[in-house]
Order: sequence, then C-alpha cells, then structure tokens
Amino acid sequence: MPLSKFQPLLNEMTLTEKIAQLVQLAAPFFKGSKDEGQITGPLAGLGLSQQTVKDAGSVLGTSGAEEVIRIQKAHLQENRHGIPLLFMADIVHGYKTIFPVPIAIGCSFDLELAEKSAEIAAKEAAVSGLHVTFAPMADLVRDPRWGRVMETTGEDPYLNSEFARAFVRGFQGQNLSLESSRVAACVKHFAAYGAAEGGRDYNTVNMSERELRESYLPAYKAALDEGAEMVMTSFNTVDGIPATGNKNLMRDLLRDEWQFDGILISDWGAVKELIPHGVAKDEKEAARKAIEAGVDIEIMSACYALNLENLVLEGTINEALIDEAVLRIFTLKDKLGLFENPYRAADPEEEKKVVLSDENRVYARTLAEKSCVLLKNDGLLPLNVSKKVALIGPFSTSGDILGPWSWMGSKDEAVTLYEAMKTRLSHPNLITAQGCEIHTGSEEQLAKAIEAATNADIILLALGEASEMSGEAGSRTSIQLPQVQLELIKELKKVNKPMAAVLFNGRPLDLHVIVENTDAILEAWFPGTEGGSAIANLLFGDSSPSAKLTMSFPYSVGQVPVYYNCYNTGRPKDAVDAQERYVSQYLDSPNEPLFPFGFGLSYTTFHYENPSLSSSVMNENDTIEISVKVTNTGDASAEEIVQLYIQDVSGEVVRPLKELKAFQKIFLQPGQSEQVTFQLIEEQLRYYHSNLNFESDPGNFHVYIGGNSRDTLSLSFELRKKMEGKINDNSNSIKISN
Ligand code: BGC
Repeated sequence: MPLSKFQPLLNEMTLTEKIAQLVQLAAPFFKGSKDEGQITGPLAGLGLSQQTVKDAGSVLGTSGAEEVIRIQKAHLQENRHGIPLLFMADIVHGYKTIFPVPIAIGCSFDLELAEKSAEIAAKEAAVSGLHVTFAPMADLVRDPRWGRVMETTGEDPYLNSEFARAFVRGFQGQNLSLESSRVAACVKHFAAYGAAEGGRDYNTVNMSERELRESYLPAYKAALDEGAEMVMTSFNTVDGIPATGNKNLMRDLLRDEWQFDGILISDWGAVKELIPHGVAKDEKEAARKAIEAGVDIEIMSACYALNLENLVLEGTINEALIDEAVLRIFTLKDKLGLFENPYRAADPEEEKKVVLSDENRVYARTLAEKSCVLLKNDGLLPLNVSKKVALIGPFSTSGDILGPWSWMGSKDEAVTLYEAMKTRLSHPNLITAQGCEIHTGSEEQLAKAIEAATNADIILLALGEASEMSGEAGSRTSIQLPQVQLELIKELKKVNKPMAAVLFNGRPLDLHVIVENTDAILEAWFPGTEGGSAIANLLFGDSSPSAKLTMSFPYSVGQVPVYYNCYNTGRPKDAVDAQERYVSQYLDSPNEPLFPFGFGLSYTTFHYENPSLSSSVMNENDTIEISVKVTNTGDASAEEIVQLYIQDVSGEVVRPLKELKAFQKIFLQPGQSEQVTFQLIEEQLRYYHSNLNFESDPGNFHVYIGGNSRDTLSLSFELRKKMEGKINDNSNSIKISN
C-alpha cells in the first residue's frame, strides 16, 4: 500500500483501536440510536465489549438524519482520536421514493433512467445521513427459484455490466469528494452468488474459472471500472472455498489482477459462517482466513473484534494486514469528507424537502412505466374508458408493491392500482373485489368476485407474490402463483368476459395457467411507490408498454435453468437430420422458454427489414456497421428496444447460441421508420479461451437483429486476424497465434 497521510494517526492508535475500525454493527448497538440497546437474538450474544462499540468504524442501517447526527455526535465525544463513523445501508432501488425492483429496471433497457433512479436514491440517502449503499447487486442469474433474482438486472453479462455502471454513476456522481449528496457504491456479492445450486439461497456455487470469468465476473468488474468504492463478499463458495475466506478470489483476482484498492466488506455474518461451511474450526480461524483473504470490514459477527489481536500478538498474522485495512477505511472516510464534516449531508430539514418529493415520484412513475412488460395482448389493451371494469385480486388495493429491499419505503405512500384506476373510472364503471388473499381465500370472497365480474364488461386481475416470497432467503421450488390465485382465474374464466392480468412479483413465474385463461398479461414486477399510477397509464394507453424481459420465463420449473445465451449441444433438437428421440430435449416440454429474453409487446407493431453489413469481412482494427430498418406498422406511437446479438460459429470452446452485444431504444410514431445502425469491433468478439486468454477467434460470425432474442433477422461476416505475418481466414488456430 502506498504511504498514506493517515500513517501518523495509525501510529497513535492501539492495536485494539485499529481492529475496532474493522467492525461494523447495526445501529441499535450505538449510543444515540433510536433503538439503542435493543439488541436481540444472536446479536445479543456477540460478546463485544463496550469499548469495541465505542471504537467501531461503521454503522449499518439508520433511520434518518436525526439519528445519524445523534450517533455520530455521541461517538465523537467518546472516540479519543475523533475518528468519525461511516454509515452504510442497503439502498437498492430507492430510499423512500421506491423505484421498481432492479429486475424490472433491467427490463426498461433504459440506462439513463436507471442512473437517475440511483442518483435520486443517493440524494435521499445522503441527506438522511448515509455514506455508503450496499448496491448495485451485479450478480448474474439464471434460476428464478432464487428469490434474489429481483435484485439483479438479469441473465445477460453485457446488459448487467451496463446497468452496474449506470447505477454506480448514479450513486456516486462524478466526484464523491465534491458532491456530498451522493453516496459510495458497494458492488455485491462477489462472486457468483447468483449461481446458487438449485436456486436455494446461500447454497454452493460450482463452476469452472472460465465460466466464472465469461459470465459472472463482467458486471462486478464493470462496476469497479466505473469507480465503485467498495465490494461485498458473497455467502457462497467459489471453487470449494467460501468467498469470504477465498484468497484466490480476493487477493489474487480482486486485489492483484484487478488492482482494486477500495474496501472489501464481508456480507452479514459471513466471516463466522466460514465455520459451518467447514473451512474454519472456530471464530479465530475464521478471522484469520478472512483477513488473509483481504476482507477489511466484518459485518455483524465478532470474529475480528475477539480474535485479531491475539492472532497478531502470537505472530500468526502480520499487523500490516490490519493496518492496510484500516487505511482503506480511512481513505474512504476522507474521500467522503468525514474528517472535516462528520455529518456530511445529514440534515433533518433538507431531508423533509428532498425525500419523497413530487419530482422524485415523477421519476419513479416514469421508470415504472418503462419497466412493465406486456407479455400477452389479444387486443384487450389498452382499456376503453367507456367499459365497466371489475378490478379483482389481492393486489387491487394492496400497497405491497414496493418489493424486497425497500426497508425505508412505506406501503402507505405507495399508489395502489385501485387508487390510480379511480382517478380515471368511477362507480359504476369501476367495481372491485378482493377475490382471495395471496395464499388463501373464502367462498364468500370468490362469490363477490364472480358477482363483480358478471356486472362488468372486462375483468382486470391484480395478482402476484407477496414481497417476502422473493428477496433474500425467498427461494421457492414452485414458481407458479399460489394455488388459490390460479383457482380464482379459472373460476372467473367461466364468467366468459375479456380478462387481463396485472402481475406483481419478484421473479420470472411459470405463467402457463394465466396465459391459457386470460387475454392480456402485464408483468408489473414490484413497481415501487408510483406503481399504481404507472400501470394505469399503461392500461389506459397514455403510453405504450415498451419493456423487454431480461430473464427468460420458463414453461415450467422443470426447465430451469433456461436462458437465452446457452450453448448448443451435439444433438440439437432442430437440426435438419435430428432423430425424433435421440436429441437434446424434454419429452414433455419444449426446450425454449415460454417468454424469451428480450421479449415484450407493445400497443403497436414493429417491422424489421433490410438488415445490412458495411462489410462481410472484419479485419482486426476494423469497425463494421450493421443496419436495419425498423418501421412502426401499428397505430400507437411507442418505444422499441432494438437488439443486436452475435454468434461465434466456430470457437475454440463452445460459444453461446446468441450473445447480446448492443441495443438501442427508439421512439416511432405510427408509420414512421428509422434506420438503426450498430457498430461492432473485434474487441466485442473476444471471450475466455481454454487457457483463459481473452481473445477472439478468426472465422465466421452470425449477427442477429430483432425486437427479442428469438425473432431475429440474420447476417454473417468473417473475422480475419493477422497471424505470423499472414492473414488467417478460417483456420481455428488461436493457440498458434499466442
Ligand atoms: C445481504 C446483503 C446486504 C447485507 C446488509 C445481507 O444479508 O445478503 O445483500 O447488503 O445483508 O444488510
């Protein structure tokens, strides 16, 4: 580590004081907290001394500027060096103005609005006293059973990387030191947390280093390239070693190869979890393994506080490891300006003005509108205002539409679908009935729903998962809606009226029952504070749905994992000479998902034609242009997300069937056309070879352009690379070129 201006301060500190800087505790541990002393459950048994709490370096989860100011003040009175506390929390998709959950934000393909949402979240958080957010979550996901898919932007490494960058820009701004209204970003969960076996949270992750580098690492790296100040370890193992004690991952890759010199923080209790994982016999060994791996801060377990000192004194670890970690923490405190102003932007008066402002709500509404995916529409939507609508289902009047990780958000502040519909339709044109609860229902509720449906022209269902059914520890083996809601649909189908469903949920669902029984489906995810208004705007056609899925929706859970950028097999089902039986297939299901990556309907139709390439050969330093003409052939003005995919036809290792390389959002009036042009360079064709070199293969590539990953127009070109003085055209001799 280079010499730091904090060396003199470090020299004055005792070893005990230094170690306390590496401790992060929840707010109730601290004097001045609104819940001071209310420490229950396993936390009560951490065994920390009062002195450690007094000297601790950072706080997790506070509830506003006043509390932060009180805690910081009390702390500074007691800390003999006057070292300010760092305040951190999970501001994942908004502070109090809650934006759609990240999986929904991903579906907007709108990087600018994603950045804006993070900026607003940062501003609300900063004025409420926070300095660091545990976001973005850059985990790639392929398994909808895993509840935390709602926290990511989906199954594509390129798209996830672009969103990770956008979120970091939004949280941190241009210069964290100059903008006290921004917060430092902590990218998580390093690494590959999204690949938990069987979709069961915290479970083992097993994959080759090549796959890790190709699919899972790019988004974390992108966040760091964008300047994210911190990294959080993941709970899972990576190649047999839990991330939090994994030297290969943290020292060799993150620190040495990627040159990350910011703070590495453990996930909640993850240092101690090295014991049940089976790589540490006790807390002392857990502390040693984590500090050796390079974990600077331990959250909510006491392995460091209780053991690091002995480990140094007995000579097992070098004190330099601790000094290094403390200096990183001081560097961030300094960057945030805390040594000059320990309260930074915390301001109870400003907080009232900034938090949940009307302006912030407008952004939340706009992003929610751009995040809802229209999955089916047999002409029922947009709704005709002159028709009578029966709004039925547990989410009609529910404010549980913020989704997990919105702990500062309030359901009471959320605009429900019923409230928003009421501003457009009044009784008797809007009738509501609960129909059932999320998991249960009664004969009486069903009878009322049938009556409402009978008296209406159109049935509008508001169905979904309660927010605790996804998020952390929210894994499920069934990805259908709860049975009672499926029964409700089937019963209402018998009423024989046009029926649309709006879905509130945190994961891709098996929607086959809903597809079979309804005329239209709008996937609203957890749309946030302004969810109801955004959905009503779409339902009544003020704007057209434009979002596209960033995670495949399977036919059934038995297909999982099913993702668009998979490899082929030696026996593809659709090969010309395929035998009926001995091909890679399910006997009882298609191979493809029900709704593919990139899919989403609109109130208009788009026609793609005349795809063209500026050249059918790409030399190494060339840029080739790929164009397509897109025309709005319907009668609504709408946005379209034009997607560009490639396929390396003959790789050194097998290559995905399609890989997203670029996308553009365009807005077209009815009848209007636009020529959309993408540029492609050799660098975008590189991938990790078997020797882990990152390079491209000379040879043929397919290019696919379309409005989703399934329905595309295709072209081909050849990449030519100079090799040992001659041009290589189609030979697959990557290794010789090294
Ligand atoms: C979660 C993290 C979160 C941390 C702190 C953990 O349980 O896995 O995502 O940042 O808690 O709240």
